[in-house]
Amino acid sequence: MKTILITGGAGFIGSHVVRLFVKKYPDYRIVNLDKLTYAGNLANLKDVEKYPNYSFVKGDIVDGDLIRKLFEEKQFSGVIHLAAESHVDRSISNPTEFVFTNVIGTVNLLNAARHSWKEQLEEKRFYHISTDEVYGSLGEAGLFTEETRYDPHSPYSASKASSDHFVRAYHDTFGLPVVISNCSNNYGSFQFPEKLIPLFIHNIRNNKPLPVYGKGENVRDWLWVEDHARAIDEIFHRGRVGQTYNIGGHNEWKNIDLIRLMCRIMDRKLNRVGGTSEKLITYVKDRAGHDLRYAIDSSKLQRELNWTPSLQFEEGLEKTIDWYLENEAWLQEVTSGDYQKYYEEQYLKR
Ligand code: NAD
Ligand code: DAU
Repeated sequence: MKTILITGGAGFIGSHVVRLFVKKYPDYRIVNLDKLTYAGNLANLKDVEKYPNYSFVKGDIVDGDLIRKLFEEKQFSGVIHLAAESHVDRSISNPTEFVFTNVIGTVNLLNAARHSWKEQLEEKRFYHISTDEVYGSLGEAGLFTEETRYDPHSPYSASKASSDHFVRAYHDTFGLPVVISNCSNNYGSFQFPEKLIPLFIHNIRNNKPLPVYGKGENVRDWLWVEDHARAIDEIFHRGRVGQTYNIGGHNEWKNIDLIRLMCRIMDRKLNRVGGTSEKLITYVKDRAGHDLRYAIDSSKLQRELNWTPSLQFEEGLEKTIDWYLENEAWLQEVTSGDYQKYYEEQYLKR
């Protein structure tokens, strides 16, 4: 029986990965290690928390001793590392936190894996989940490939780029069996309402202003989170050691067009007539260092592992909006506490 460590499993993408692995692989023991920051919520995993092959450990990846002991105790044969500080705006107001978790935390995990995995390396796998933001910003044309030069612009993407470099260095220097994937923007259920799509659903529902950064002309490539989780499953099991795989939705949207689409869908669902929600659009000061465009070439993943996105965006967005409208209690729970303070600092002083 394999024991797999998933870090950050109580967060948005991590909870979908934990759910998929716990249900699909009853013969694996899945250990979810999460610090439960503002972004981590065990309510995201209610449906699998009683499964016999699932366990949760509350802990901080920055704590090297804890990580070392956990590796000794559990004898992991695989790691899927998602724990991170993940929000660009927060990295602008507090960059250091991103260095601790994203860089030091990743190095702690690499060290523990390196010291714990002395033999049968072909049966071990350290999978680091990264982002397309490490590649910087595209102009009007072109796509990020696995060969695109790193050019991060935010403290968040700089910390993720740094962690990617450490992962590759541990492969090249110590022979650690690593694999990395760099994914585009995810959307779907259980995403904390600080990111564009859940924040705007929440604000439209509550008739609050929709704070569009700059002119709303930035472009993102949106992927349904369950398709990302499926890609992670494929890459963890069949990806080649030492390789990088880009994951994307082939689904580019200018922010303002996406926001207008969300307004139209929500007007229909909330029985609002006369384009009511669009009136909430408010242009605010642009994000510092705001990357213009991200778009992913995921042909390597398609070619080698036969992965393609399963869902059309309009269908996925409808499903996502329905989920947030039907899970008001979850939203209330995660937006209590520090959320109000964050919202005031981020938006009301802009
Ligand atoms: P998230 O912010 O929703 O969740 C992060 C999780 O990590 C939370 O559960 C949090 O409690 C946990 N965590 C944070 N610091 C920790 C620490 N020091 N020790 C242990 N746990 C800690 O993030 P997400 O959007 O689910 O992203 C997951 C991963 O995927 C990140 O590595 C992110 O860089 C990457 N990624 C995200 C996207 C996206 O669109 N959201 C796209 C590509 C890649
Ligand atoms: O590309 C992958 C990345 O996608 C991940 O690595 C990050 O973890 C994830 O947060 C996401 O980063 P973005 O910065 O692209 O996502 P966000 O939802 O914060 O913003 C999407 C776009 O919307 C971006 O151009 C900024 C804009 N925006 C965002 C917010 C929160 C607004 O105009 N207003 C807002 O209030």
